[in-house]
Amino acid sequence: MSTIKNIGVLTSGGDSPGMNAAIRAVVRASLYHNLNVTGILKGYEGLINADFIPMDIKSVANIIQRGGTILKTARSEAFRTHEGRKKAFKNLQESNIDALVVIGGDGTFTGADVFSREFDFPVIGLPGTIDNDLAGTDFAIGYDTAINTVVNAVDKIRDTAESHDRLFIVEVMGRDSGLIALRSGIGVGAEAIMIPQAHIGVEDLIERIENGRKDKASKIVIVAEGDEAGGAYNVGEVLKKKFPLIDIRVSVLGHIQRGGKPSCMDRVLASRLGVAAVEGLLEGKTHVMAGQINKEIVFTPFNQAIKHIDAQKITPAWLKLVEILSL
Ligand code: F6P
Repeated sequence: MSTIKNIGVLTSGGDSPGMNAAIRAVVRASLYHNLNVTGILKGYEGLINADFIPMDIKSVANIIQRGGTILKTARSEAFRTHEGRKKAFKNLQESNIDALVVIGGDGTFTGADVFSREFDFPVIGLPGTIDNDLAGTDFAIGYDTAINTVVNAVDKIRDTAESHDRLFIVEVMGRDSGLIALRSGIGVGAEAIMIPQAHIGVEDLIERIENGRKDKASKIVIVAEGDEAGGAYNVGEVLKKKFPLIDIRVSVLGHIQRGGKPSCMDRVLASRLGVAAVEGLLEGKTHVMAGQINKEIVFTPFNQAIKHIDAQKITPAWLKLVEILSL
């Protein structure tokens, strides 16, 4: 029998579409199990400043379809310090919050792991990051929506590329990860993908363009922001010098990738994982992330979830696929 009576929920780090669906699921599952639930505003900053709001059934009405996060989010420097975490723990005790669900990515779980061990406090994480760069889940909440946003945007860019016989270098998000670039690149039929985990280099790109089909009207190259090439503008500059006769344009998609209505895939994933997190806490699970692998719910220790796992998700087979399809 669990002693947990009041669960706190927060979102932290970069927002991702589906975070609201996850909050809704945590609140509804808590109420279903006759627990109180407290919203913590602005991530770990709200923990340190005791920025708490009681949540009831109405607080999560009409949010499943909304992007962003109703609890707001932040990246907290103070939570990296013992003093900051001590204050957070004191605030939780004073508000009778017994356990936490934290929704975020790498930085969120790094903080959660330290905090939950330091104060022996139950914490379960939900993967919420468009980058999808976490182990322990096939997909993070927000990734599906983000890659669909990229595909919709690049399809439009392709219209211009095709009409003007242009080569477009499109930069997508992913500070340390090439996963957005990989899937969206396949989805838009990109001629090449530049990602940190399989760096092809501008020289290789030049070679591909030189050896590639000359009869293609449009060409799209997807560059992950974290690629060593230093971003789409750098790549564009080098290519423009090398190929003065090719009409080259650069487009940086930026934060449109983080916003918008979550896809149904993200809503369902968030809903399922939100319930799993609450039930996991009631079963005594802690310092783990709830994820979904091969359709099954899996709990992975934070310290294993946060190691960049692109090597597992970006396999040689995926890269081969890109090469085959870019003929
Ligand atoms: O982690 C998600 C992400 O969107 C990265 O892909 C990107 O590099 C970063 O956040 C940008 O974050 P911000 O705009 O909040 O500084």
